[in-house]
Amino acid sequence: MEPILELKNVSKIFGAGTAHEVPAVRDVSLQVMPGDSVGIVGESGCGKSTVARMVTKLTDITSGEIWFDGENITRIGEKETRNVYRKIQMVFQDPYSVFSPRMQVGTFLEEGLVHFGICSRPEARKQAAEWMERVELSPELMERLPHQLSGGQLQRVVIARAISIRPKLIILDEATSALDVSVQKQVLKLLVRLQKELNLTYLFIGHDLAVVRSLCERIAVMYAGQIVEVFDSEDLGHNTGHPYTQKLLGSVFSIHDRNQKEIQLETLSMEDSGYEKQGCVYQKRCPHATEKCRTEQPVMEACGTPHRIACWHPLCGGHHH
Ligand SMILES: Nc1ncnc2c1ncn2[C@@H]1O[C@H](COP(=O)(O)OP(=O)(O)OP(=O)(O)O)[C@@H](O)[C@H]1O
Ligand SMILES: [Mg+2]
Repeated sequence: MEPILELKNVSKIFGAGTAHEVPAVRDVSLQVMPGDSVGIVGESGCGKSTVARMVTKLTDITSGEIWFDGENITRIGEKETRNVYRKIQMVFQDPYSVFSPRMQVGTFLEEGLVHFGICSRPEARKQAAEWMERVELSPELMERLPHQLSGGQLQRVVIARAISIRPKLIILDEATSALDVSVQKQVLKLLVRLQKELNLTYLFIGHDLAVVRSLCERIAVMYAGQIVEVFDSEDLGHNTGHPYTQKLLGSVFSIHDRNQKEIQLETLSMEDSGYEKQGCVYQKRCPHATEKCRTEQPVMEACGTPHRIACWHPLCGGHHH
């Protein structure tokens, strides 16, 4: 089976050649197979959205290649880009930004179906109503305007539209992050159910490991523009080894721990950004860093498929020397 999406050593440097270079994404390689749900997790500023934006051509690529559906889409023109767009749908954090304020939400669904040639206009109303039900919304809501729905309801409509177009890949960038916890859980459940029923392929981006784990079968952990570990979701904790993964995991448990007030993830600042010229990206914050970590960059090494790790001293032991 061929991956539906493959990133090969992809980098993005904002302001390349200027005094203010930001190496937002560095040498990222990742595969998404059809039917997969892959998560990218990492703290604010680590480059997650930039990855998504390069895949969807909202940002150009500094180096590396992106392959989609068997085709190298790294440097395709405008017309082909449009063709790719219908096969990749994105869901962002803020559903209100997707709608025109005066368009009924039902019309929003119908337009998608007609525009992408899924059905004729007379048929679209009926199909739109079916999609509303699939995402557990009453078709009566179709006549409402966006501001007359809650954020959670509106995000369900956005998801319905994304799926109704029958894309080969759905990228969800912090798609549930703005929702309150109980609503977030319901929407995640919905996404899991739809994936199973319709054999969808997800690339799910988030900063919260607990959330990403609840949806994804495979997880890539990003730090300062690099993927530092990739693993099967079910191996998290007992068979993962990057100190940064461990740290993220610590903050997952703390959510459920009332006595522990907060282990919040810090936000990357430029001084402590991990944009190291030499050695490991995580060296400054890593409790296990040695001289080697400061001078030699750990390469991403396979240690049993699909587990890959870039660390000189992994906690799961034994892979590096
Ligand atoms: N257009 C731009 N020009 C310059 N720098 C940018 C641009 N877009 C993003 N960056 C920088 O690239 C880095 C990665 O940003 P990105 O939005 O990909 O992070 P993220 O992981 O999605 O963060 P968040 O969780 O906050 O959404 C950040 O340092 C950001 O400031
Ligand atoms: Mg982002």
